[in-house]
Amino acid sequence: MVSSKSHPVVVAPSILAADISKLSEDVSSVVSGGADWLHVDVMDGTFVPPITFGANVVQSLKDNFKIFLDVHLMIVEPERHFKSFRDAGADRVIVHQEACPHLHRSLSHIRELGMKNGVAINPGTSVDSIVDVLDVCDLVLIMTVNPGWGGQPFIHNCLGKIRELKTRLDELNSSAIIEVDGGINADTALQCVKAGATALVAGSYIFGAPDRSKAIASLRV
Ligand code: DX5
Ligand code: ZN
Repeated sequence: MVSSKSHPVVVAPSILAADISKLSEDVSSVVSGGADWLHVDVMDGTFVPPITFGANVVQSLKDNFKIFLDVHLMIVEPERHFKSFRDAGADRVIVHQEACPHLHRSLSHIRELGMKNGVAINPGTSVDSIVDVLDVCDLVLIMTVNPGWGGQPFIHNCLGKIRELKTRLDELNSSAIIEVDGGINADTALQCVKAGATALVAGSYIFGAPDRSKAIASLRV
């Protein structure tokens, strides 16, 4: 199995699949069920059609739970909002390559603000497009569905990109984390970890499970 030497597999439930009318209860269940990070999907209705959460939700999660907040910005001009997400308590901010004409500057800015950074690439975007910023990346998020909605099927073509990215990172001696997001269940998680991913985002698989702690454990391959 090709898994990173430096990172254990981490599981990040995506609150997009939680019941918003009982968000606190749902988040508690995954925090006590063994989640490593909480994944917060921020959508602006422009980069992707839906509108979801803002910095106020991040602030409320920070105030009420002790867990690493992995904030995935599916928004245009994300740099306009870095400071407000930092002030709200984001531990990591992930931007999309497709939304950042000045990607190197954006990633550096996130670090300067005291957060970990991440760059996400859509299924239609190549690993080559981010090779020149890998030296300033803490994490690369390989989208395994097209962003915008939970509950979509995993796109198997993305496995090749995970392998390619893992090779590039090893060549550069980079310790950046490879995260995957979309259609992750026990089956696809295993395939992603074999390909080199060590951070797994899962929404519907975890929140839709009768026993969330078992679902989380089943991803830790
Ligand atoms: C999709 C989001 C994902 C989503 C994953 O745009 O980035 O984080 O919540 O949902 P599942 O795990 O249901 O595919
Ligand atoms: Zn996400």
